Amino acid sequence: TRSYAITLLPGDGIGPEVISVAKNVLLLAGAIEGIEFNFHEMPVGGAALDLTGVPLPGETLSAAQQSDAVLLGAIGGYKWDNNEKHLKPETGLLQLREGLKVFANLRPATVLPQLVDASTLKKEVAEGVDLMVVRELTGGIYFGKPRGFSTNQNGEEIGLNTEVYSISEIDRIARVAFETARKRRGKLCSVDKANVLEASMLWRKRVMAIALEYPDVELTHMYVDNAAMQLVRNPKQFDTIVTNNIFGDILSDEASMITGSIGMLPSASLGEKAWTGPGLFEPIHGSAPDIAGQDKANPLATVLSAAMLLKYGLGEADAAERIEAAVLHTLDRGFRTGDIYSDGNKLVGCKEMGEEVLKAVDLNVAAT
Ligand code: NAD
Ligand code: IPM
Ligand code: MN
Repeated sequence: TRSYAITLLPGDGIGPEVISVAKNVLLLAGAIEGIEFNFHEMPVGGAALDLTGVPLPGETLSAAQQSDAVLLGAIGGYKWDNNEKHLKPETGLLQLREGLKVFANLRPATVLPQLVDASTLKKEVAEGVDLMVVRELTGGIYFGKPRGFSTNQNGEEIGLNTEVYSISEIDRIARVAFETARKRRGKLCSVDKANVLEASMLWRKRVMAIALEYPDVELTHMYVDNAAMQLVRNPKQFDTIVTNNIFGDILSDEASMITGSIGMLPSASLGEKAWTGPGLFEPIHGSAPDIAGQDKANPLATVLSAAMLLKYGLGEADAAERIEAAVLHTLDRGFRTGDIYSDGNKLVGCKEMGEEVLKAVDLNVAAT
């Protein structure tokens, strides 16, 4: 049997609810495939603040760094919203991404046939959408300096952030995006604001330069405002999208809704090929404080993130496929959490959805 150390970071709000489901699914799919998991649960975000006074304790980061893969739920909540920057749950998540050097964030948005009705878009627009947002994750305005609060020449208080990208940062994310597009339908759309921002002008120039290494991939460029519009006008035009940290944050939430719910979208965050550190896997949604503690959360984004962990993080594609098949099977049988519910389906909570996925993992074993 293969054995892996997985750091589980449940975090806040619905984080612990969805992580508990994903953990059980990993255990069962792993057992069937002869994979053993050693889980280490560590605090991050608001949970860590309450326990230790910081949003990413050193013990949590080093446990994560030493493991084979990291699965995170979500962080944040009203309680900590007014904290100073360095004491925000969100700062802990950014420190984790930086500490794990996971600069490439893959966010697939796929409209499953079972969920076409859950999309807010018309059936003919949503049907068949299958796109991948490749989001730069450890640079740009999230990390750029100078940043902070100070005063301007008029003595007025200002908040300051800087959008900054170096050539090496652009080149490496561009290569991940071209490689990704090559394995998909061979189309890459680079989204920027090169009509206004210098960081985007350099971005576009470097993406064009890297394109010479990938003559088989068809490259286009689009301004981010147009991309936001095109995503709801005709999302099927997109295969792979590559973009900076903040545009990728926004566009992936938008793309999630095409698929029916943000509760469906997983993600994988990866480092350099030569880097042996673990990948970070997390749903793209947040801690959903409005439904936390009510057993209403859709756990499928986290379950599918666990599948990405197996596939991209551990190279265990068979176990990943087992989980994906179980999710499809559960949807086929009509089980829906509230966010993807439509008439005629069976409304279930987070726990029950988890139990049904487990049954489906079992059933699919019997079927194969
Ligand atoms: P959110 O994603 O938490 O919630 C937005 C809306 O989507 C809410 O109505 C919520 O109920 C719903 N939703 C989200 N996930 C769902 C799921 N799995 N099932 C059903 N419904 C779901 O975004 P927000 O409200 O802007 O942020 C809440 C907190 O989460 C903030 O503190 C924010 O900073 C944090 N956040 C964390 C992450 C992360 O941990 N990666 C991501 C985004 C936001
Ligand atoms: C996400 C979240 C985070 C981000 C926040 C919570 C720091 O919105 O993972 O999409 O902006 O990257
Ligand atoms: Mn986001």
